[in-house]
Amino acid sequence: MRSYQQVIKDRYDGREKSLDIYNNIYSIINPIGFNGHTNIENAIYKIFRFLIEKNIDIRSIEILDVGCGSGWITRIFAEFTGNPRNIMGIDLSEYRIQTAKEFNPNIEYIKGDIVEGYQFPRKFDLITAFDIFMHLNTIEMIEAALVNIYKNLNPNGFFVWFDAYAKDHFKCAEEAELNGFNSKQMDMFAEKAGFTKVYEFSLYKYFLGRHSLYLYNKLPIILVKLIEKVIPGSPGNMLKLFKIN
Ligand SMILES: C[S@@+](CC[C@H](N)C(=O)[O-])C[C@H]1O[C@@H](n2cnc3c(N)ncnc32)[C@H](O)[C@@H]1O
Repeated sequence: MRSYQQVIKDRYDGREKSLDIYNNIYSIINPIGFNGHTNIENAIYKIFRFLIEKNIDIRSIEILDVGCGSGWITRIFAEFTGNPRNIMGIDLSEYRIQTAKEFNPNIEYIKGDIVEGYQFPRKFDLITAFDIFMHLNTIEMIEAALVNIYKNLNPNGFFVWFDAYAKDHFKCAEEAELNGFNSKQMDMFAEKAGFTKVYEFSLYKYFLGRHSLYLYNKLPIILVKLIEKVIPGSPGNMLKLFKIN
């Protein structure tokens, strides 16, 4: 069985590295990638509005994005806060970190492992994790990542956990590269690590074994939005904002 590090390397420094923008369904020029970007941008808008309403000055907060990939979410943060120098991204993939640095040299990017406990030079007011816990396939790895996030937050800091839905994170196929969580599992892990939930919402819909994001390249957007509203099912992804207890 391949190690976790090998699974990540094969995918992000291998298979996905070899795709150009037309062949990668997640690149912004393709319908799935474009709508994915737009929906995440909306979600980030909601988070920052929430923080502003709590009298937090988003221009000065230190932000870390774990599992930042090629940095597109950190670049959105920079647009919202107007302050790229307060933003840092960490990812296991050498290739993705290199790409992120090329796109925005004013944001700090490091190659490192959040499970292993990377030593950060400073603490953060907001740490975000978009679709990274889905890769962590043992309780120990999930708990270690959450402990590291917790200890790198300032006392009034916030943590955003965004992940795909699955009935049970631990009932995934052997060697699965990723598996989502159910809402209770996310809450349970976060509470155990010392977090309290302050805000949550869902994106997309999971129905008939399909995630609605993958309908965006098949149907008009308006129809996908309607399906997401009216068809019964589970959330496709959940975003949860936690604060330190
Ligand atoms: C599904 S991608 C999500 C990337 C980005 N957050 C986004 O939403 O587009 C998961 C990312 O997490 C990174 N990753 C996985 N395990 C990690 C770990 N232990 N520490 C840091 N990054 C990790 C992978 O290399 C990959 O870039």
